[in-house]
Amino acid sequence: MNLALGVAVNSQPRSEAYWRWKHLHNPFGKSIMLLAWRDDELVGFRALLRWRLKSQGKTINAVRAVDTVTHPDYQGQGIFSRLTLAALEECKRQDVCLVWNTPNQNSRAAYLKLGWRSQGKINMVIKPLHPLGMLVGIWGHCFGQVRSDSPAPSHTLQPNDVRDLHRPTSDGLQSEIGERYYQWRYCEVPHLQYFFYRDGDWAFIYRMNTRLGMRECVLSEILSTQPRDDTAGCSAALRGLTRTLSADYLVLAKQVQERCLAAGVWIGLGKMELIANWLIDAEPTTSSFSFSTGDLEVF
Ligand SMILES: CC(C)(COP(=O)(O)OP(=O)(O)OC[C@H]1O[C@@H](n2cnc3c(N)ncnc32)[C@H](O)[C@@H]1OP(=O)(O)O)[C@@H](O)C(=O)NCCC(=O)NCCS
Repeated sequence: MNLALGVAVNSQPRSEAYWRWKHLHNPFGKSIMLLAWRDDELVGFRALLRWRLKSQGKTINAVRAVDTVTHPDYQGQGIFSRLTLAALEECKRQDVCLVWNTPNQNSRAAYLKLGWRSQGKINMVIKPLHPLGMLVGIWGHCFGQVRSDSPAPSHTLQPNDVRDLHRPTSDGLQSEIGERYYQWRYCEVPHLQYFFYRDGDWAFIYRMNTRLGMRECVLSEILSTQPRDDTAGCSAALRGLTRTLSADYLVLAKQVQERCLAAGVWIGLGKMELIANWLIDAEPTTSSFSFSTGDLEVF
């Protein structure tokens, strides 16, 4: 499976601990997983990660089509399609209303043929903090120099850090999450360390990473005690965070979070397409999605 899927997704190794964390220990429930066999050889795998969304006070049972692979010798023989259709039947039996995902170019066309529809694109943006550091990082990377990791921030995330904090409210579909989710997503995830910074009403969950020699800070969550937008407060807190970091730039998915951030230099890094397949006859009136960076990265 690693042969076809790769050994890592972003900076996350596909270890056994990671698979157990993702597919067995998820607070939304164990993943729906189907295997395809030819004689006694494993030739295909399909996993749907359970997720819960909310919109206008209603809970929506959803799954994310995350991991799928067909053995290279058996591709193009309909294994992915049959496994996915069988998984959708299982979803319907279990009252799952929606399947969503951010496909790669290998699987996008196949999902669209099976009934998925594009829901638009999510912009990934960066905010340069130290342009010179970015240049030095890339320069060193091109010439094979290994730059030391940035010093670890002092406060690793503890589950009760988020007790009085919420994501900014949104009209679109949002993940239905609570304290247990934060613990699983940010404290129990193997191989990655998340940090917490708070300044008054605003708080951030983030991780440090090195990419192409540059030190990046992935801003996974922007949280507040207040449901209302307070761009000035958020921006002031963010300036406080960046002063404590030795990151060259911040990176985030520009969606719900953009409302909190004051204008400034945010550079488009790329776009991630979101596709979805509703398994019920009547789609909800809102079909826009509002995810945090942390909902999207790592999976
Ligand atoms: C993407 C993947 C799972 C498809 O598996 P598969 O069993 O070969 O897919 P199927 O045979 O069911 O084909 C489904 C559709 O995929 C596309 N497809 C499959 N093989 C293809 C090939 N060799 N060339 C072009 N398109 C192909 C076609 O659109 C096909 O539709 P069709 O049957 O109407 O022609 C497989 O290519 C794979 O394992 N890729 C590597 C891992 C990966 O990228 N996974 C997805 C993200 S986690």
